[in-house]
Amino acid sequence: MGDLSVGDRVEVEVGPIAHGGHCVARHEGRVLFVRHALPGERVVAEVTEGAAGDRFLRADAVEVLLASPDRVSAPCRYAGRCGGCDFQHVSLSAQRRLKAEVVGEQFARLARRAVDVAVAPVPGDREGLRWRTRAEFALDQDGRIGMHPHRSHEVLPVEDCLIAVEALVPALTTDEAYAGRTGLDVVSPAAGGTVIVPLPVVAGEAVPVVHESVAGQRLTRDFEVSARGFWQVHPGAAATFVDAALELLVPQPGETVLDLYSGVGVFTAALAEAVGPTGRVLAVESDAEATVHAKANCAAYQGVAVVRARVDDFLGVARPKRRGPGGQRLRKLPARHPLAPPRADRILLDPPRTGAGQLVVTALTALEPKAIVYVACDPAALARDTAYLGERGYDLVTLRAFDAFPMTHHVECVALFMPRSAQ
Ligand SMILES: C[S@@+](CC[C@H](N)C(=O)[O-])C[C@H]1O[C@@H](n2cnc3c(N)ncnc32)[C@H](O)[C@@H]1O
Repeated sequence: MGDLSVGDRVEVEVGPIAHGGHCVARHEGRVLFVRHALPGERVVAEVTEGAAGDRFLRADAVEVLLASPDRVSAPCRYAGRCGGCDFQHVSLSAQRRLKAEVVGEQFARLARRAVDVAVAPVPGDREGLRWRTRAEFALDQDGRIGMHPHRSHEVLPVEDCLIAVEALVPALTTDEAYAGRTGLDVVSPAAGGTVIVPLPVVAGEAVPVVHESVAGQRLTRDFEVSARGFWQVHPGAAATFVDAALELLVPQPGETVLDLYSGVGVFTAALAEAVGPTGRVLAVESDAEATVHAKANCAAYQGVAVVRARVDDFLGVARPKRRGPGGQRLRKLPARHPLAPPRADRILLDPPRTGAGQLVVTALTALEPKAIVYVACDPAALARDTAYLGERGYDLVTLRAFDAFPMTHHVECVALFMPRSAQ
């Protein structure tokens, strides 16, 4: 078996797409994850990372010998060098098809079930370009603004970013000197002008609060959020996810509903409107600043309680990976939060990329909800949690997927789970 090392070039047939934006290829028994390739292509791949003995090597397609019909000429002049987009070389319809294949593959492997999902565009999409309203750019030692190449700390200076909304672009060519800073967070909120936050934020510096808005069928209103806080970056995404989640969850007046990993309260507000003044919404969020904004954003709704806590602590289950060298638990199990209800009618969760995990999922099913809606930015985490939900008697009933991050490999899913006994 020939050993390959960084810089070597090999001719390979490109196999299927894999999670992470690359395709799988093999060379003399070695697995290569090849970026900027497409299934069915024949390419020259240059090894970019890995060594003899590694399970796989990373590589980049540097020459296309046989092109896929899905290949297009990348609209962005930095494509292939900038680490921000993986799919600029792929037609938009094929990007969505590939994302659907990844979701299907993750469910087959991790949840051991077949799913058939189409990835829908988010309303307002402009051919996959000019959608990003929040972006972090890097600053090099000479103060030039740019992006990091894939898995690199170097800075590629850029004067435009085609997936960023137009309002973000002037920040890339500003004469402003940002001495001592390593990056810039640039935000174009729904209301007001572009905000630039130099990074790292120095102690004593205030991060501005911006106003974002949701204009969907289930919710139309504004939200306050820190310029560095969590907010969906595609302008149509928040409303799309709120509409999809509520359509699947079907919260009813008077019900008790949990909104877990609730951020600044986008779903909380929509749920509060649905359950009305006789219902109850418990929003749980670990970030202190987001919790302050969620309280302000939801102040008008009676029956909403915003709790600042980790979801696992709130439910009184162990945190993951908190074991000492001998396997002993490093931390006492937290007491269940006094506001954690013994039962919940419905649960919405929108965890970070790591997912909710087995202990949280198990604790949720113990609340015997009629329905659980899971909003997921990582299909692998969703598929793993789908398996845990299945073990506890909750089956996947509906799966929807959205292209909220065109030109990148990212995909957002909204999934409905219901008790097997109720179906
Ligand atoms: C994907 S965001 C969703 C936020 C919100 N649902 C929205 O749509 O704007 C995930 C949120 O979970 C929070 N978070 C991360 N880990 C958490 C944990 N263990 N417990 C509670 N919140 C957590 C993050 O601070 C972030 O606000």
